[in-house]
Amino acid sequence: MKLSTYSIALLLAAHFCLAGTARAQTAPVGSGDAKPSNTVPQFGESPLEEVLRAMTTEEKSLMVTGAKRREVEPVATPGRKQKNITAVGGYTYPFVRLGIPAIYLSDGPAGLRIAPRRENDPNTYYCTAFPVATLVASSWDPGVAERVGSAMGHEALEYGVDILLGPALNIHRDPLGGRCFEYYSEDPLISGKMTAAAVKGIQSQGVGTSLKHFAANNQETSRRFINTIVSERALREIYLEGFKIAVEESEPWTVMSSYNKINGVYTSESEELLETILRKEWGFDGFVLSDWYGGEDALMQMRAGNDLLMPGLAVWSQKIDSAASNGSLDMGVLDRNIARILNVAQRTPTYRNYPYSDKPDLKGNASLARDAAAQSMVLLRNENQALPLGQGTRKVAAFGNYSYKMIVGGTGSGMVNNAYSVSLAQGLELAGYQVDEDLQKTYLEYLRLGKPRNLKADSLITALPKLDSILGELAIDENLIRQKAKESDIAMVTIMRVFGEGGDRKLKDFYLTAAEKALLRSVSDAFRGEGKKVVVVLNIGGVIEVASWRDQADAILLAWQPGQEGGHALADLMSGKVTPSGKLATTFPVDYRNTPTAKNFPGTPAGEPKQVVYEEGIYVGYRYYDSFNVTPAYEFGYGLSYTSFTYSNMKLSSGKFKDRLTITLDVKNTGKAAGKEVVQLYLSAPAKTMDKPAKELKGFTKTEVLQPGQTQTVSLTLDARALASFDTGQTAWVAEPGKYTIQLGASSRDIRQTASFKLAKALVVEQVNKVLVPEVAIQELKATK
Ligand code: BGC
Repeated sequence: MKLSTYSIALLLAAHFCLAGTARAQTAPVGSGDAKPSNTVPQFGESPLEEVLRAMTTEEKSLMVTGAKRREVEPVATPGRKQKNITAVGGYTYPFVRLGIPAIYLSDGPAGLRIAPRRENDPNTYYCTAFPVATLVASSWDPGVAERVGSAMGHEALEYGVDILLGPALNIHRDPLGGRCFEYYSEDPLISGKMTAAAVKGIQSQGVGTSLKHFAANNQETSRRFINTIVSERALREIYLEGFKIAVEESEPWTVMSSYNKINGVYTSESEELLETILRKEWGFDGFVLSDWYGGEDALMQMRAGNDLLMPGLAVWSQKIDSAASNGSLDMGVLDRNIARILNVAQRTPTYRNYPYSDKPDLKGNASLARDAAAQSMVLLRNENQALPLGQGTRKVAAFGNYSYKMIVGGTGSGMVNNAYSVSLAQGLELAGYQVDEDLQKTYLEYLRLGKPRNLKADSLITALPKLDSILGELAIDENLIRQKAKESDIAMVTIMRVFGEGGDRKLKDFYLTAAEKALLRSVSDAFRGEGKKVVVVLNIGGVIEVASWRDQADAILLAWQPGQEGGHALADLMSGKVTPSGKLATTFPVDYRNTPTAKNFPGTPAGEPKQVVYEEGIYVGYRYYDSFNVTPAYEFGYGLSYTSFTYSNMKLSSGKFKDRLTITLDVKNTGKAAGKEVVQLYLSAPAKTMDKPAKELKGFTKTEVLQPGQTQTVSLTLDARALASFDTGQTAWVAEPGKYTIQLGASSRDIRQTASFKLAKALVVEQVNKVLVPEVAIQELKATK
């Protein structure tokens, strides 16, 4: 089925807005028998083959197409609690006759997304807005991702949801990507490790996850049909690697295929991607669901191993029903897909009839969200120890609209209906600072009159598609700024960027607006003129330009989109209660034009691109900047602390590589504050026959809180896979013989210790299948001519 742009728009509108109003028109197939007959095999009691044999072809076609459509209500199977269908993102078809319950799926990556209100119910059902994935990744601590995951899983469990639609781990290929905030990093290792930890956390609660969007879904422009043309090597090394790590380390219950095509084929219709790579090579044993209304051909999706089509359309099930009835769709394919869905269904809280409370521990999760944000925010600049705020610094003049309203996350399906959010001003006040009242009043009034949509979405719908139009920066009178510079101890200026699903950012979004520049300039001149400092807070969902204005700030604290407790986390860091230990998991280039993808984003033809060619190949993010000597504004892995660390005593378990190598290092806190350090392991491999990036991240670890003078020995390991690159000619992961240099650093450009080892002979680490081959030649960027 081909969907026109108009029908897609209608479906999307339905997806975001009508969820709460869809009511049952007719009872679902099979729901007629209130009591199952004794002769009908029952799901969970009878062997699965018998249940499958008992299903009619029509029932089978309904089982593989989600049931969130107007004519279906997920009636509870006998003995199970009837759930409120309006609360969630989607569900599967229930079959009362066979004892198969509907299973419930809901977004998303930064917290559970359910409707806060329910019909005929005076209560509200809020969820915690946690820090977005880009911020969680900046912790460089999988423990943070796991704790946040387990808190999100707890909320899903207690609200009756079976599968959380996340984590999301597409790559920050280009800074203008509209959903970058939902994703972790430009690097596949950190993306994969964070995802694996998040999955472990969520699934520890007995609810499932859905890794998304599989794969190469790195832009929103033309997202439903863009053909991503990418080399086998870049696909394997950059775009699939994180998914591989997560599948192998954490066994997610489900994977969500993406909207885009890879080398000419929709991912949801690609047997090579879903069967050969995901299942055969990586051993995935859950089920694959489509992204909402993704792909075109339901039969090809079935054959490709896209087991469940979401959220469900009658045309899909009818097509599958007739093809299976006339033999053009193999019944074995349908049975295989259903078995995969039911195997997962059997683990769900709904199947277990878990008595969910509708009362998750929101208080506990709020404090966890605060801690996670504080462990992750990145101190980008700190001249003359502007931070932490000194004892004498009490009076704060806070400028910028969004100093008074925290933007907790991005828009679209990744939004959370949270009860409240803590602004910078509120966080500071509660920490005992005096936030200038004149300014506070002026800004709050401006925000109120601008009628920004209340983020506390008090509605029956699952989420709001967009925030209010963002208010232009309020112009503050120069005289008032000068007066405040006299009266206050310090200035803060918040810069905000929010965007989300359904569109990429425009180029101008990357730069400060004229009003932001003017504000910063005036505040900086006035406060510095009085010998006072200026702290800039970045409450942004994606990378912006910083090089042209950073000198006007004494300190820059990158909060990303920190979740509902953001203001408290900022105050924790500014007051020195917590020492910053976050590091960038994505590069801040000097200018957008410097990015390796600038000439190939979002694709061609301009306007509504149909294809995008990944000509930068493997040179994404720091792999590009470091290999081509392009100096970024702030490099990958960068982040300041209130204390300092020395690295010493690096030791390798051997000078020659066999199967594994262990590296140990002493990290000492040599400063005056307690703090944590992230140690990053980069590897430079010989480039004999293969093109190699200057260095690649192959490991990382974070210390405990080290007291001044305290030392911790950390240890990292390298296995054969870490040495290998994807050799297209051999269709294998191969490590070339020669000298490898290990670089341990505090960032990708702050290398503190190096050592090398030798690999005597070439190693074919893993032979894989020749699949997803581009149909056209790609002029790929190479570091060696
Ligand atoms: C998004 C997914 C999301 C799904 C369900 C789609 O539009 O791309 O990330 O999980 O909707 O809300």
